[in-house]
Amino acid sequence: MQTGGERSCLQNYRLRELLSIYFTMMAVVVVMLLASFQGASPRGDPFPFRVPLDPLGTLELSWNVSYSQQEVCFQLLVKELHFGIVFGMSDRGELENADLAILWSDGHKSYFGDAWSDAQGHIRLDSKQDYQLLEAHRDPEGFYLTFKRPFSTCDPNDYLIEDGTVHLIYGVLERPVTSLLAVNLSLVNRGLQRVQLLKPNITNPELPRDVQTLEVLAPNVSVPGQETTYWCYITELPENMPKNHIVMYESVITPGNEALVHHMEVFQCAPQFDSIPHYSGPCDSKMKPQRLNYCRHVLAAWALGAKAFYYPEEAGLAIGGPDSSKYLRLEVHYHNPLQLKGRFDSSGIRLFYTPTLRKYDGGIMELGLVYTPVMAIPPHEDHFELTGYCIEKCTATQVGFWTF
Ligand SMILES: *[C@@H]1O[C@H](CO)[C@@H](O)[C@H](O)[C@H]1NC(C)=O
Ligand SMILES: *[C@@H]1O[C@H](CO)[C@@H](O)[C@H](O)[C@H]1NC(C)=O
Ligand SMILES: *[C@@H]1O[C@H](CO)[C@@H](O)[C@H](O)[C@H]1NC(C)=O
Ligand SMILES: *[C@@H]1O[C@H](CO)[C@@H](O)[C@H](O)[C@H]1NC(C)=O
Repeated sequence: MQTGGERSCLQNYRLRELLSIYFTMMAVVVVMLLASFQGASPRGDPFPFRVPLDPLGTLELSWNVSYSQQEVCFQLLVKELHFGIVFGMSDRGELENADLAILWSDGHKSYFGDAWSDAQGHIRLDSKQDYQLLEAHRDPEGFYLTFKRPFSTCDPNDYLIEDGTVHLIYGVLERPVTSLLAVNLSLVNRGLQRVQLLKPNITNPELPRDVQTLEVLAPNVSVPGQETTYWCYITELPENMPKNHIVMYESVITPGNEALVHHMEVFQCAPQFDSIPHYSGPCDSKMKPQRLNYCRHVLAAWALGAKAFYYPEEAGLAIGGPDSSKYLRLEVHYHNPLQLKGRFDSSGIRLFYTPTLRKYDGGIMELGLVYTPVMAIPPHEDHFELTGYCIEKCTATQVGFWTF
């Protein structure tokens, strides 16, 4: 992989040199008059991935990945544009020692450039401009900025976009910027978001024709004005639902709460209880009925930035039928670092299920007691060993299961 990277750097050298000269002639920066970019937003959304960057959700990043071109195309929606925005990547989510794309304005003209910051937070434009501005426009939602960048730029000041989690950073420029060197990044309103930029390039299987949906949604919860809330909500499957197979699920996020809903899970309760008390409240509340502790069989899980989950064509996750509980527990983690009050939420998960049972019952196996990096399987491994012990009671029931 390393050699391949070097070779493509050499091949591109001339072009890059020319670009570099070109950009030097252009006084390094690409001058962009925002006014000349006003227009309607293009039809059809070419960006399959989207995350809010800041806790208020005023900055939203969408992107797509081209593995053939080895590049990522970003679209940044800035709902309230002041005098610019700093966007980039760094090793640990710091604005210092970061690879940056910057949009800035001196109050008259606006500029876009590829830059980097040193350990003191001084911003410098790159001699090679690898972030390429594609489009900019304003519409009622805010200001849209579209730009792209190769995974690897061969510029030592640039970040190498690889598999795994990338720390995306942002900063809001709230005052006119007359010179980039005058910007003090430590005074800028800033933050970070962790995402997997290089989503795997896989095609999803088609959904069966007889697919039905069931939404497991929070009941217009008044989100507490505290940093962390796990909300528990008990709901039920339709009456006398026979065994079906869940073949896909996706998140349903209340518009405006994209930055608040951190992750969600749907659990099924243990079948030995004829009834489970209804409850809607914090999961750690003393008022929470004890029986909810028996609602732990995972049916679906979603975390910020995740797309819909599809089961392979030959398998589905069983739901309904005589041997299963009709009670479901939805758990929503609200991450509210700004301790916003007065937010209402009805987010949850939409299950897609079919009565036409597939060949295999899928299952979700939970391994280990704690989340540690030691248990994270690196991408593209065809072999990964994790040692653990099943007690007798466990091996007696779980004979010969398939995992995928
Ligand atoms: C990514 O988005 C850009 C800009 O809209 C578009 O031109 C391009 O075709 C998209 N690429 C992929 C791989 O979807
Ligand atoms: C995904 O991979 C296929 C084949 O490997 C390729 O033809 C296709 O262009 C890729 N899609 C993207 C978005 O890179
Ligand atoms: C940036 O601001 C911080 C905090 O006020 C200050 O300590 C630092 O010296 C400033 N850096 C520069 C380069 O001006
Ligand atoms: C949620 O509840 C609040 C307060 O009772 C109400 O104002 C709001 O309209 C409700 N939203 C929905 C979607 O029902």
